[in-house]
Amino acid sequence: VRSLSFTWQNRDRGTSVIVGSRPDLSPEMVAGEGETRFWVVDSRLADLWPEPLGEALSSGGRSFVFEASEQSKSMSVLEGLLRALAEAGAHRGWRMVAAGGGITMDVAALAASLYNRGMHLTLAPTTLLGMVDACLGGKTGINLGGVKNQVGTIYPAERVAVFTDFVTTLPDKEVRNGLAEALKMAVIADRRLAGLLSEGFRSRLPEIVERCLRAKASVIGDDLADRGRRHLLNLGHTLGHALEGHSGFGLGHGEAVGLGMLAAAWMGGRMEPGSGMLPRLREIMEDLGLPTRLSAGVTAGEIMEYVRHDKKTVSGGRRWIIPLDWERCRIERLSPGAEREMVEGALEAISP
Ligand SMILES: NC(=O)c1ccc[n+]([C@@H]2O[C@H](COP(=O)([O-])OP(=O)(O)OC[C@H]3O[C@@H](n4cnc5c(N)ncnc54)[C@H](O)[C@@H]3O)[C@@H](O)[C@H]2O)c1
Repeated sequence: VRSLSFTWQNRDRGTSVIVGSRPDLSPEMVAGEGETRFWVVDSRLADLWPEPLGEALSSGGRSFVFEASEQSKSMSVLEGLLRALAEAGAHRGWRMVAAGGGITMDVAALAASLYNRGMHLTLAPTTLLGMVDACLGGKTGINLGGVKNQVGTIYPAERVAVFTDFVTTLPDKEVRNGLAEALKMAVIADRRLAGLLSEGFRSRLPEIVERCLRAKASVIGDDLADRGRRHLLNLGHTLGHALEGHSGFGLGHGEAVGLGMLAAAWMGGRMEPGSGMLPRLREIMEDLGLPTRLSAGVTAGEIMEYVRHDKKTVSGGRRWIIPLDWERCRIERLSPGAEREMVEGALEAISP
């Protein structure tokens, strides 16, 4: 088991992380001595992983088991969870332990930040996306009125317990979601990680998770509040969200982000001729089983409609994260005309 620890500027609590392979959610792994634990668990895990979740599922009133879907990042699930805490007699000295993917962790962490103005929190991610990304950095959230993560807080967990064998039961589509985010971390901050990913990630998962978390921390370390460098984590997402929405969510999030990164890499080649990320990225994505071409018939005009609705649009133009080389991305604001031209060219470059 590897141990890492991260500190955050202007926060009195840091995050300590353990990364192992075989799941062990015993009290020593997830909590401090003598702490009472309250479990929040993705119901799918109850069937798939009854053993490591034994305590969680038999702790009487001290657990909240729910079906994780984007619809459950909602006010009503949040309220149900807060009520369950109150009924159990929880107080700020208790520790919430959340086991599940990004959805479970986002809702649980939001509740933990609100209940009694903040209780102890451990996150135990069980999806690859959860392990390489969502468990670190403190973003919590639910959706409201169809807008993703509209309501949330910044509340880093004090402890994160990652056990990579959870990935063995994950559907391939969910694995691809995690791989795309891991590749994004490699582009932004860790070129060696890209090599590990394409060498056959399954046998190297603990090392990959560790490198992703270090990379993410290096980007957000002084920016938990999402100003400045943290924007880099949006690489591939502006176009990715648009492609995902345009496909009616037939394209998975990771697949869309991957394509978004390829498009951004093409833009990089336009802005700085000779910057050659596109071919290398395409190669790695092929190794990872991520699509590298759009489906037929996607037009720039349609995609721009979705881009215009991106909630990250700020006055002065959308920010585009443009990779020029490994560990070297530029944050660019484009005028509407230049943006349109770039999107057209980029989509052309990744069309079938
Ligand atoms: N807080 C952050 O920093 C952050 C970062 C990235 C994404 N997110 C959020 O995370 C969410 C996506 O996370 P996700 O992809 O982990 O989704 P998720 O939690 O929905 O999990 C994906 C699916 O896998 C299932 N599952 C979970 N663990 C499993 C396992 N071990 N075996 C088999 N199935 C399992 C779940 O039941 C679900 O159906 C989004 O809502 C996104 O906004 C948050």
